[in-house]
Amino acid sequence: MSEIKKAWYKEMSVYQIWTRSFCDGNGDGIGDLKGVLSKLDYIKSLGVDAIWFSPIYASPQKDYGYDISDYRDIAPEYGTLEDFKAVLDGAHERGLKVIMDLVVNHTSDQHKWFKESLKGADNPYHDYYIWRKGKGKNPPNNWKSTFPGPAWEYNEELDEYYLHLFAVEQPDLNMDNPAVRNEVKDIMRFWLDMGVDGFREDVITYISKREGLPNGFPLPVACGMEHFTCGPHLHEYLSEFNDEVLSQYDCMTVGEAPMMTPDTALKFIDESEGKKPVLNMMFNFQHMEADCMITNFIVTKFNLKKLKKVMTTWQTKLYGKGWNALYLENHDQPRIISRFGSEKFRVESGKMLATMYICQSGTPFIYQGQEIGMTSIRLPNLSMYKDVATHNTYDIFKKFGFPHENIMKRAMYASRDNGRTPVQWSDKKNAGFTTADEPWFYINPNYTEVNVEQAENDPNSILNYYRKLLKFRKENEIVIYGDFKEHFHDSDKLYVYERNYEGKRMLVVCSFSDTIERFTAPKGFDLAKGKVVLGNYDELNSGFDSFNLRPYETKVFLFD
Ligand code: NOJ
Repeated sequence: MSEIKKAWYKEMSVYQIWTRSFCDGNGDGIGDLKGVLSKLDYIKSLGVDAIWFSPIYASPQKDYGYDISDYRDIAPEYGTLEDFKAVLDGAHERGLKVIMDLVVNHTSDQHKWFKESLKGADNPYHDYYIWRKGKGKNPPNNWKSTFPGPAWEYNEELDEYYLHLFAVEQPDLNMDNPAVRNEVKDIMRFWLDMGVDGFREDVITYISKREGLPNGFPLPVACGMEHFTCGPHLHEYLSEFNDEVLSQYDCMTVGEAPMMTPDTALKFIDESEGKKPVLNMMFNFQHMEADCMITNFIVTKFNLKKLKKVMTTWQTKLYGKGWNALYLENHDQPRIISRFGSEKFRVESGKMLATMYICQSGTPFIYQGQEIGMTSIRLPNLSMYKDVATHNTYDIFKKFGFPHENIMKRAMYASRDNGRTPVQWSDKKNAGFTTADEPWFYINPNYTEVNVEQAENDPNSILNYYRKLLKFRKENEIVIYGDFKEHFHDSDKLYVYERNYEGKRMLVVCSFSDTIERFTAPKGFDLAKGKVVLGNYDELNSGFDSFNLRPYETKVFLFD
């Protein structure tokens, strides 16, 4: 193991904004950049160091911005480029970095490149996308979209199919075409020259497809993934982006990487002596499968041992070699309290979950509303859902014979829309999100109790706990650079781990139980000598090495 290298992107924590539901500044019911501008002081007050914007570019919004029709403009409902520059300057003035979403696996079908590509094989833009002849009456291969359904769409005029690994309105780009890679590099330069500080790269591990596009192992969802995940040229293309653009700027990258394992991740992010990483971090999905399998809709009972195994493996395999991206929520996930925690013990479990992941080694990402403990909305009717993936998944389950009620139960737990309801700012009309009569999407009725205003006024709120936790992380290098060792890995109630750095030691104790659990310090720890630096009940140290943990209790001990 080599000496751990320090870097600004390792020391920062990041706040993710999904603009549409963040704050409406112009009263049209949709969150926008004016709204963001008005909340920069709030964001700064959390103690984060950067903002990651989910896509705010021009888009028909079929997949809420992940279908881009112009990479160099802002969606009119969110504002203008001038508004964005005001946010960028405002963020920088406050010492906050700004990270943009880079979505280059696919564009919108309304992007001018795609419209040109429809003009036929002679058009230079035709080869910007993956067009193929069918096999008889069948598509070119058996691949399936990750938003369930076919991955190929037939165009009668051209008598060809185009590939779309997501919605039909999101055609995949042909990254093997050097002209497409040049476009990507130009887009990167455009935003970096404007002053942005890095990119979160959307499904970046899908950009290289295996030559010949062979059939995949037959699966109902994402069939063919073995041919489009970490494809043959992925490393080469990421290197090219790095060498020609990213390395010329002081910026960071985090790649979204479905189905990623730590060993494969290291092929891209290993920064050990003699290695050249092509990304700084990767978002893996393995820990988000502690209550589901393959897709969020195949719901299983939350399994702490599964969660611990995955998180611990990433911690230990990457330590000293690569850097972890830590998260529990984002715009693709239901709210974490409603999954791995407890709505009954909302405050306790919200704080415990925060401690559990933010005290690990890596850069923590916090999704809007997570810091006040927002919960899943659980919409009861299919027509209430806006998310294309939810509707596609419903159709596939229906096709496989699942009864409506059964699928709705899954959607209520697992739909991405659970995490996309407007941020609850106050107990006023529309939770203070908008002055319009109708917000663009449903507001969780618990906004009367769960909102920023309430949390600001309560010293024991989840919000104030996040502030304390992030401050503690910033002030204690052990949280950032310490090593990681798990204890009691057989427990299905407790997640206990220690961190060590330059002679200091930290013990993190997290209970996932809704009843009292007995805790005995791991061998070698004399708790009387430690200081309780964080906790979600009282923070006194009894000095005893054995005590009762209350429901969802967390305690962090520091030993100098
Ligand atoms: C991952 C994004 O996070 C998700 O929201 C989107 O639907 C897909 N990639 C497709 O871009």
